[in-house]
Amino acid sequence: MIDVLRLVVLVSGRGSNLQAIIQATAAKELQAQILAVISNQPDSAALVKAKDAGIPTETLNHRDFDGREVFDLALRQRIDNYQPDLVVLAGFMRILSKAFVEHYQGRLVNIHPSLLPAFPGINTHARALEAGVKLHGATVHFVSAEVDAGPIIVQAAVPVLDEDTPDSLAARVLAQEHRIYPLALEWIRRGLIKQEAGKTRFLGKTPSDLALIAP
Ligand code: GRF
Repeated sequence: MIDVLRLVVLVSGRGSNLQAIIQATAAKELQAQILAVISNQPDSAALVKAKDAGIPTETLNHRDFDGREVFDLALRQRIDNYQPDLVVLAGFMRILSKAFVEHYQGRLVNIHPSLLPAFPGINTHARALEAGVKLHGATVHFVSAEVDAGPIIVQAAVPVLDEDTPDSLAARVLAQEHRIYPLALEWIRRGLIKQEAGKTRFLGKTPSDLALIAP
C-alpha cells in the first residue's frame, strides 16, 4: 500500500485517458499525484489538458534523437528525475526498447483498446468489426518487451452491435477505458495486484477492496 501513488504519465495525442486519471485523482477515487506529463509530440492536446490541471509538462521530441535507444535513454532520465512509483502510458505512440521496459519492470502500465491478446497493434476497432467478434473492449496491463503484451490487470468488455462503425465502437470502448485505467492504478496503489509467472492476481478481500470491482 502506498499513501499517494506518484505517477509520470507519457502521452502522444488527445489525452482523454490522462483526463480521466486527473479527474479520478481530483475526486479522490484514485489517491495519486501526477508529477509530470511527458509527450513525444510537441502539439499533443494532452499537454494542454495537463497544463490546465496545473501539472508540470515536458516535451521530448523523438525526431530530435538519433534512434530509439538514444531517445529511450533520454526519456528514462527525464522520468527518473521525478522518482515515480509508476510510469503510465496513456496513448503514448512509441514502441519502447527492451532496455527501457526492463528498467521499469513492474512499474510500467499501458492501456490498449482491445481485449488482449486479441487485436494487438493499431486500428483495433475496425479489425474487431472485420473479424465479426461479438465482444470487444479494453485492457490495462503491465508492459513487457513484446508490444501490447504483459500481465493483464483489468479488462472491460462492450458488446459489438450490428450497426457499429469503428467510431461508434471506439466511443463505447473509450468510456470503459476511462473507467478501468484509474481503477487499475488504485488497485496497484493499494497493493491489490500481484504479478506472478506472467499473470496478475487480485488480492482484494475486504468489502472496500471488492467495492472497487463493481462497475
Ligand atoms: C486509447 O484508445 C488507448 O487505449 C490507446 O491510445 C488511445 C489514447 O487515447 N493506447 P487518449 O489520448 O487517452 O485519448
